[in-house]
Amino acid sequence: MLETACTFDRAGAVAEEKLFEPGPASAPGPGSPPPALVKPLAFGAWDETALVGVAACASRWLRVLAVVPAARRRGFGSALLAACETAARSAGETRMSALDQPGNYLAPGIDERNVESIAWLERRGWARKPEVRMNVLIDVRGNERVSIERAARAAEKATERGYEIRRARRDETALLAAVASEFGGAWPFELERALAYEPAGVHVAMKDGTYCAFAAHDGNNQGAGWFGPTGTWPAHRGQGLGEALLLACLVDVGTAHSRCEIAWIGPRPFYEKVAGVASERRFVVIGRQLT
Ligand SMILES: CC(C)(COP(=O)(O)OP(=O)(O)OC[C@H]1O[C@@H](n2cnc3c(N)ncnc32)[C@H](O)[C@@H]1OP(=O)(O)O)[C@@H](O)C(=O)NCCC(=O)NCCS
Repeated sequence: MLETACTFDRAGAVAEEKLFEPGPASAPGPGSPPPALVKPLAFGAWDETALVGVAACASRWLRVLAVVPAARRRGFGSALLAACETAARSAGETRMSALDQPGNYLAPGIDERNVESIAWLERRGWARKPEVRMNVLIDVRGNERVSIERAARAAEKATERGYEIRRARRDETALLAAVASEFGGAWPFELERALAYEPAGVHVAMKDGTYCAFAAHDGNNQGAGWFGPTGTWPAHRGQGLGEALLLACLVDVGTAHSRCEIAWIGPRPFYEKVAGVASERRFVVIGRQLT
């Protein structure tokens, strides 16, 4: 149903994660206690016995909302949205935001090409924020800058500088603690999910037994080949660690996909330089006050 209804996001491929799996209730700062996890509430709309629409919300986030094209303009979408807004209000939330729950997000906002849905939400009291977020897509097959050899060379360079580059172990909880302490937010949550991927979708750089950098894929939107989060501890920046770990992840993603989506990006020039950007997606940040 989600595959039929969602043109811009691969919601069908990650339906279980968006409709039923928990996500962080907040994104606390570095060194803060880990955020509480919140389970979503999922709603379905049925036409007789056929499921024609779904929506899910988790605390103040609308995780997903979709109605199959053949059942549109019959009030299903409005009813699903109202169910989510009522659930959020009853849970004491005073505002809602679309899709962008840190740690468990379908996308960092609504794809700007999805003008009809954006306008539909605006007619229902939702308002766009000025911020525009971006994902970039990198070709991971047929891209001479993404290869096992290039990843190995980048790792070798780091080794010459005294670093160890390796895939993280699935039970590497010390990494989660180190990332929580340095970076915080929803990153430890995403990282824990990426560690659980098979094989673990996390690569690390270490020196003298301490973490210096990490990069992950398939934490959020697991199975879709999304990259992130990644971070290098400030004292170790500028040493090629981010590049070596990004390449290791891109090679991983290339075993299952032809493109890797780098989500909710910070420094675009970094990705451009390491692997070249094949295309980009822009997202509208949209939300509403509930009071
Ligand atoms: C956005 C979306 C969920 C709307 O679903 P929907 O079921 O068509 O929503 P509704 O039927 O409640 O509203 C659609 C229009 O039909 C109208 N409508 C409702 N009942 C109607 C009826 N019985 N007869 C005629 N029109 C009707 C509504 O008034 C509304 O028009 P308006 O927006 O001008 O007020 C749907 O377009 C969709 O699935 N889009 C793709 C997924 C997506 O992008 N989701 C957004 C991410 S959160």
